[in-house]
Amino acid sequence: METISRPASMERITTPALAKKFIEEQLAALKAQIGSDKVLLALSGGVDSSVTAALLIRAIGKNLVCVHVNHGLLRKGEPEQVIRVFRDEMKANLIYVDATDRFLDKLAGVSDPETKRKIIGKEFIEVFAEEARKLDGIRFLAQGTIWPDILESEAGIKAHHNAGGLPDDLAFELVEPVRILFKDEVRMVGHELGLPDGMVYRQPFPGPGLGVRCVGAITRDRLEAVRESDAILREEFAKNGLEGKVWQYFTIVPDFRSTGVRDGVRAFEWPVVIRAVNTRDAMTATVEDVPFALLQHITERITHEVKGVNRVLFDLTPKPVGTIEWE
Ligand code: XMP
Repeated sequence: METISRPASMERITTPALAKKFIEEQLAALKAQIGSDKVLLALSGGVDSSVTAALLIRAIGKNLVCVHVNHGLLRKGEPEQVIRVFRDEMKANLIYVDATDRFLDKLAGVSDPETKRKIIGKEFIEVFAEEARKLDGIRFLAQGTIWPDILESEAGIKAHHNAGGLPDDLAFELVEPVRILFKDEVRMVGHELGLPDGMVYRQPFPGPGLGVRCVGAITRDRLEAVRESDAILREEFAKNGLEGKVWQYFTIVPDFRSTGVRDGVRAFEWPVVIRAVNTRDAMTATVEDVPFALLQHITERITHEVKGVNRVLFDLTPKPVGTIEWE
């Protein structure tokens, strides 16, 4: 299946009927390819791996083994949502690995952004490989590779991060059921498969997760401030009609503190930075014009509900010159 290309004549999947047709064709192809063998999938809860999982669950049921690795850098509620949707509702064979301590221990004291990213990527492969070795009779590895991944790696823009990475003793055959789809088509198919909107239409989220938003050396308390402030921002954007309108929005917590006053007492605490941007391809980005009253309301909530935070700032920088993420 790994040599399949998107046919030039393929109609863009823009309607539920076209999504349904794709799903039926894929289910037949998956059943033919896999038969009664077992398939392993790293399920992050992102759109691509979730739709891949949903298709495979329909095609082969419990012969799909999903592994959800919680690296401790996920957003608030994400691991719970993966468990609820896939284990409880779709009855999937899901292995949940809470590797939070392992990741945070490895990251302790590491402040260089690239080193942090490398540690997170390497540790992820290690945890996943350990889980894979515990399983018997796995023949295939499923991946949520999508068509832009292939195009970008062919054009030399981005290393195809999905392919490979696993040690040689885990040489599985690949299954890539959404390989020929563009992102909007993956969402259409996911919606048709009954995945919740919060999963299908969610904003992009980097592999290293909140780790690149907890600037510098990650500490548990500051990571918690990133997670809680991000949850408040998402909740307020959803309530105020900005969810689905703004391309990406999140919070960052830098590793410095400033003086404030709380209940008449000096409060030497962190700032939270809000970033909200729009883009077509993430190569350039403009800053969303968030209503001032909403920013004030979010500031009020964050400074009162998030432990250790006494200021809120808004990042006014387009890309270039600022990248979207801070690290
Ligand atoms: P930057 O910060 O480079 O980000 O302007 C552009 C887009 O890519 C996302 N991003 C990542 N996505 N793994 C990913 O899957 C990563 O390591 C990664 N780093 C950045 C970022 O969130 C933005 O949407």
